[in-house]
Amino acid sequence: MNPDIPLQLLGGITAREFLRDYWQKKPLLIRQAIPDFQSPIDADELAGLALEEEVESRLVIEKGERPWELRRGPFAEDEFSKLPEREWTLLVQAVDQFVPEVSELLENFRFLPSWRIDDVMISYAAPGGSVGPHFDNYDVFLLQGHGKRHWQIGQMCDAESQLLEHADLRILADFQGTDEWTLEPGDMLYLPPRLAHCGVAVDECLTYSVGFRAPSAAEVLTHFTDFLSQFMSEEERYTDADAQPVSDPHQIQRDALDRLKGLLAEHMGDERLLLTWFGQFMTEPRYPELVVGPELAESELLDSLEQGAVLIRNPSARLAWSEVDDDLLLFASGQSRLLPGHLRELLKMICAADALHIDNLGQWLADDDGRNLLCELVKQGSLGFADE
Ligand code: SIN
Ligand code: CO
Repeated sequence: MNPDIPLQLLGGITAREFLRDYWQKKPLLIRQAIPDFQSPIDADELAGLALEEEVESRLVIEKGERPWELRRGPFAEDEFSKLPEREWTLLVQAVDQFVPEVSELLENFRFLPSWRIDDVMISYAAPGGSVGPHFDNYDVFLLQGHGKRHWQIGQMCDAESQLLEHADLRILADFQGTDEWTLEPGDMLYLPPRLAHCGVAVDECLTYSVGFRAPSAAEVLTHFTDFLSQFMSEEERYTDADAQPVSDPHQIQRDALDRLKGLLAEHMGDERLLLTWFGQFMTEPRYPELVVGPELAESELLDSLEQGAVLIRNPSARLAWSEVDDDLLLFASGQSRLLPGHLRELLKMICAADALHIDNLGQWLADDDGRNLLCELVKQGSLGFADE
């Protein structure tokens, strides 16, 4: 994707300009980011998803059994008919995994790494509905899908920002509005992490949140060190063969700290392991139980493809690739595979995985490594056969 082409999605600026001036820095309102946008899903379909066991959903009712009542799905059908006329919101997480047309929306965001994308959450709000003023720790693009929503943005927040006392929701006690706009279908608002915001439905409305993910520093450290420790033996320890006589046996001296720093640097500085861990971590699926594949022999895969079968990425799978020296790494739903450099174009195709079929796979099916990889990915559940 050429980063210097002005994008309608970004209000006529280029991806390069957006990243330089707005990404993780300041909000951007884009009128008609997607002109004449028609939501591929309506309120009834969204409510239908919220009945399903495998779908994460929440209801926020402003004047419920207590202020800002939070209920978690799955919901029973009659729960929706008992809701008040106004001031409630249904939020459904990861709709992109269940509705292909919603997943296709993500194609608009290919100027950002796909492994940074978390999900597309869709909310339906009754008139006046809101989840209250709050901040998120993630970047988000809020695309208006249907009806109108009035957005206010406010101050930058941090861990010290005062919240209302509430067991489940993080509502700001103090919201200092700075700007406000009413968004109509196709309008979009980009918000950087930690910017306070509050959206209130003018009429009944649907809002799409394209949310991003970034591991916290604590997650990086705990998960990476857990990963590293698998490769370490009990025998490898703090050593002090260079120890000198001590003046006070009770003092921990500088040299001990230096040895520890050396030990940490030796392991933490291993770029290959860092990359392997990071790729696995960032491609872990949100719902691992939805990434399962069939037993399959390579010959069966070949037969199916020859008969016109099409492979696509499982919408619940995450894929990314990288390179180490002359080799390649493919990360698929939390697993990594070291692969020979000649598979580069195949890896790119698999990660983009719009559709893989006999015509575009062609030569790769004659390649032992390529064929084996495709078969393994189907068996793992990261790739699957498209419905006819
Ligand atoms: C909503 O869609 O109601 C809330 C989205 C958000 O503020 O993050
Ligand atoms: Co938010």
